[in-house]
Amino acid sequence: MNLLNRPRRLRTSPLMREIVAETDISARHLITPHFVVEGEGVLEGIPSMPGVTHVSVDKLVEEVAADVALGLKSHLLFGIPEHKDETGSAAVDPNGVIPLALRALRARFGKEIILITDVCLCAYTSHGHCGFLHDGVVTNDDSVEQLAKMALAHAEAGVDIVSPSDMMDGRVGAIRDLLDENGYVNTSILAYSAKYASAYYGPFRDACDSAPQGDRKTYQMDFRNGRESLLEALLDVDEGADMVMVKPALAYLDIVGRVKAETLCPVVVYNVSGEYSMVKASAAAGYCDERAIVMENLLAMRRAGADLIITYHGRDAMREGWIS
Ligand code: PBG
Ligand code: ZN
Repeated sequence: MNLLNRPRRLRTSPLMREIVAETDISARHLITPHFVVEGEGVLEGIPSMPGVTHVSVDKLVEEVAADVALGLKSHLLFGIPEHKDETGSAAVDPNGVIPLALRALRARFGKEIILITDVCLCAYTSHGHCGFLHDGVVTNDDSVEQLAKMALAHAEAGVDIVSPSDMMDGRVGAIRDLLDENGYVNTSILAYSAKYASAYYGPFRDACDSAPQGDRKTYQMDFRNGRESLLEALLDVDEGADMVMVKPALAYLDIVGRVKAETLCPVVVYNVSGEYSMVKASAAAGYCDERAIVMENLLAMRRAGADLIITYHGRDAMREGWIS
């Protein structure tokens, strides 16, 4: 009998399994999202996403301080403005909620944290689309111009990484050009490259009050397509993306693997709101062991090829010691 033919040998004890594990995860792999609102003293739970909050800038600084104390150093900011209009004008306001948040966080934490901002119009437009809407059509090139201006406003306020999530064609190149023209050559771009039109964004759209008129299927990807994710990722890299993203995570780990194999930059995966809420609801009902499920999911994302994971589970994972 072939003596090599006993894979169970390397599973005989916890330590044996530990030393041969192919994949691991630590705090540095996690990016924590925040939903930033205008005003002061706001810290409100989001009902569909237990443990996640709407925060005003003053409370955000405290929230991030607590996260930093847990070891979470990368933070992704979504802005939720009070004023919404056709063009999402609040998105390009140099004194909008996100530039204010960036300045406050930078003043408090300096280079101790990485600041990432979502660049998209959907939380800022009255119709809830990620770009401009003309006669029922989401138009591309004028939207891209506005998105680039939004990214520039964030760069001016000190962001490290801008992250366009709109899925307009050519936005990465337009953002890169405008940033460079204005001297922000070191502001990085994390492109939501393979972002699918997904029902898993439901709780997030409640949180951002950004549910669109109609749907996003003319710009976000069709989940029947896998190969197309490579077209999107390679275009973004070509246009100057420093990192690419696949979103959502769990039903899309094949896409993570493919994008990882075909690109040379870090690959980020977004463990989205619906994926989080399903785990939280199931755990709250006693249907699953939250720690075990969260760790299995996060490690599967890493195994598939994700270098970094945007997740709402980070705070629980660090506080409870699931991840060190
Ligand atoms: C907006 C945006 C969405 C998410 C991140 N940026 C929602 C959408 O496209 O409708 C989803 C995040 C999540 O569900 O956690 N462009
Ligand atoms: Zn959007």
